[in-house]
Amino acid sequence: SVYANKEEASKVVANRIAAVIRKKQANGEHAILGLATGATPVKVYAELIRLHKEEGLSFKNVITFNLDEYFPMQPDAIQSYVTFMNKNLFDHVDIDQANINIPDGTLPASEIAAFCLAYEQKISELGGLDIQILGIGRTGHIGFNEPGSAPNSGTRLVTLDDLTRRDASRDFGGKENVPTKAITMGVGTIFKAKEIILMAWSENKAEIVRKAVEGEISSEIPATYLQLNDNVEFVLDTEAASLL
Ligand code: GLP
Repeated sequence: SVYANKEEASKVVANRIAAVIRKKQANGEHAILGLATGATPVKVYAELIRLHKEEGLSFKNVITFNLDEYFPMQPDAIQSYVTFMNKNLFDHVDIDQANINIPDGTLPASEIAAFCLAYEQKISELGGLDIQILGIGRTGHIGFNEPGSAPNSGTRLVTLDDLTRRDASRDFGGKENVPTKAITMGVGTIFKAKEIILMAWSENKAEIVRKAVEGEISSEIPATYLQLNDNVEFVLDTEAASLL
């Protein structure tokens, strides 16, 4: 679906997430949310905070799994996705700290594989992600599943694409400071979610959105895999949708 602007679109996505939380609450169950970082979801989180403060939306029954984290990365670094999530959502709602899951950027190399497996297992033991939100990188990545990622890939350590590191260079004060790796949920992990919403705003996403929606399905653009999944919805502003 296409909206006039990202404010309107973000409210729609926030309401979808809130609906999942409330429905689970009514049943006395946990809501399992798959969350994303980057500029794209910031207004979704702002709207969720507003719903918490002004309309009594509680996050007590919410368990979250973030898509990815840079590697290596200290959680208290300003560029970490832990810091991002705290600042943009978690510090402002009543979620239990123990219910927040973000890939660990501090692990020794020898422990990464076991951590990734445990991350997958934790999601499945909880019954899977009820809703996963996604942005899209200009390489066509979802999470940090860069070109070459397999459709059934799981949570793992990946090497970041040069374009991804260039796009992140502003946050790090230069590309040379951007980590070369990340831990990301896989395409397969994401695809098990019951609902998937990919959001994209503004003109500089128009070309990659066109490829993701209309292009040939290929590992060269992992977002094209979304065409294979019936539970995916693209939520766009008019600029991001302008080449469709
Ligand atoms: C990062 C994140 C992705 C995100 C992408 C787009 O690389 N790992 O999950 O979708 O960037 O970022 P933005 O929303 O800032 O355009």
